[in-house]
Amino acid sequence: MVRLGVNVDHVATLRQARGEHYPSVADAAKESLFAGADQITIHLREDRRHIQDYDVPAVKQVTKEHNKLFNLEIGLDKQIVDIAIDIKPDWVCIVPEKREEKTTEGGLDLKNADTLLRLQEAMELIKKNAPKTKISLFVEADEAVLNHCIELKVDAVEIHTGEYAKVYLEDGDISLFIEKFKKAKTQIESAAIGFHAGHGLTDESLKPLCENKLFAEYNIGHWIISDSIFCGINKSIEKLLRVMGRI
Ligand code: PXP
Repeated sequence: MVRLGVNVDHVATLRQARGEHYPSVADAAKESLFAGADQITIHLREDRRHIQDYDVPAVKQVTKEHNKLFNLEIGLDKQIVDIAIDIKPDWVCIVPEKREEKTTEGGLDLKNADTLLRLQEAMELIKKNAPKTKISLFVEADEAVLNHCIELKVDAVEIHTGEYAKVYLEDGDISLFIEKFKKAKTQIESAAIGFHAGHGLTDESLKPLCENKLFAEYNIGHWIISDSIFCGINKSIEKLLRVMGRI
């Protein structure tokens, strides 16, 4: 069964825009799980531009009550890694993080020796202090990068689909992306590592990925929250579950 992770960061973006206590991130998580999501994803950024520290235990509690998964996205900042260790989510997804970016831009640069070293240190800390927490790395579908992921013995990779989704939206040729994802799937699944995807996906750009049975899990946020303005979060999630062949 293909899983859907709902990223509720943009509910926090709306809340932070006015500095109010609403809309509630925890309630958005609850609604998403009621609608059939398998997992809630949030990204605690160093600059705290959307998700705040208090959202992290609140979302964990909601996922626990619904017996669903909690995926915490983190950068390689020591303070954030410590928070993840303290919270012990079901999954941490380690992502690159730049202050000036609008959203995560591309996967971790594992070809960079410094990034690789910092990543190894963070992974060791998480494995030692939160051994039940699974680790995924947000990366590009690049053979050398994926070989690093295999050597690092990660539990899953989350492939960056941002460029693919952009080309899809602009009616471009997606065939090269599909071939690249197929190759990456073979490489990763032969090492018994989970093959996840996320970033920039919409109900439309999700279709070819599902038709080609590429990924075991999709983490989607911006499109869901945008579409839910017009029809509610339940209906937006329903649309994705339908594309995924779940309903
Ligand atoms: N996966 C990762 C690793 C991300 O950083 C994001 C964006 O926070 C998403 C998935 C969800 O992307 P989007 O909001 O574009 O659907």
